[in-house]
Amino acid sequence: MSSQKKILVIGSNGQIGTVLTKKLGQKFGFENVIGSDLRIPDIPTKFIFEECSVLNKEKLEEIINRYNISDVYLLAAYLSAKGEKNIDKAWDLNMNGLLHILNFAKEKKIQKIFWPSSIAVFGPSTPKNDVPQYTITEPTTIYGVSKLAGESLCNYYHNKFGVDVRSIRYPGIIGWESMPGGGTTDYAVDIFHEALKHQEYTCFLSRDRTLPMMYMDDAIQATIGIMGAQFDKIKIRTSYNLSSCHFSPNDLAEEIKKHIPSFKIKYKVDERDALAQGWPSSINDRHARNDWGWEPNFNLSQIVSDIILNLRNRYNK
Ligand code: SER
Repeated sequence: MSSQKKILVIGSNGQIGTVLTKKLGQKFGFENVIGSDLRIPDIPTKFIFEECSVLNKEKLEEIINRYNISDVYLLAAYLSAKGEKNIDKAWDLNMNGLLHILNFAKEKKIQKIFWPSSIAVFGPSTPKNDVPQYTITEPTTIYGVSKLAGESLCNYYHNKFGVDVRSIRYPGIIGWESMPGGGTTDYAVDIFHEALKHQEYTCFLSRDRTLPMMYMDDAIQATIGIMGAQFDKIKIRTSYNLSSCHFSPNDLAEEIKKHIPSFKIKYKVDERDALAQGWPSSINDRHARNDWGWEPNFNLSQIVSDIILNLRNRYNK
């Protein structure tokens, strides 16, 4: 195998995949980045694209062999809200997709895996604030259940077979370049588009539902950061807590009003609020900071300024 890293991003068309493949291409060369997804991208990509489901083990293996893939970023997943409506499919995709990739690493077909877990591994019995790395994890969504089982599977494959799998528990991720789908924290992206287009947004979470959140740039930096860290710096092989900021829909709306004074938020709470109710408000991530040097760059006001600036440019074009 050549020493040049060859990267496969599974779920390259999703909210995080769209931005991650671009950043990886800029860093390692677009000729070394292969994206795969069930959905073909609307516009041509600079990276190589392969249409494939993570459940199609044979095709995945063929892609891995053909491109000599060394690193896999496995982002394809059913998120919390969509998962509740498709329990069997969510379990199948979230667990068997991971198992396929872990087995490729066990068989030495690939060298390194990134697989994200989520704040959804926590539940109502977890402390609400400053949640430590090691705490009660009793999730109430199939998404959270599959992520918690996935964390154990990663740890097991690492301990038993030496698989180099690295993971972080993503909070709600927001950005301007791509749209989320099927999550409970999606409101925090939708709100910007509605604020700019209609100066009004109807929120499906309740006013004071504070959740741990993160700007896309920080999430990408963490993802590439943990994959670039030395092997022995990664001491946790389940998944690292990761934190940047936390806010409620009301906090976000107040910040948006500083840029769009006529903006109004209304509330029409749906079942997603009950999912979020079980999640923590804030997370303690000292292990990620100490072990591999994680540090976020964006607070709420910086996130809001940056998103509005970029979306205004896009809408004015
Ligand atoms: N953003 C995810 C969701 O809302 C949580 O990790 O499902």
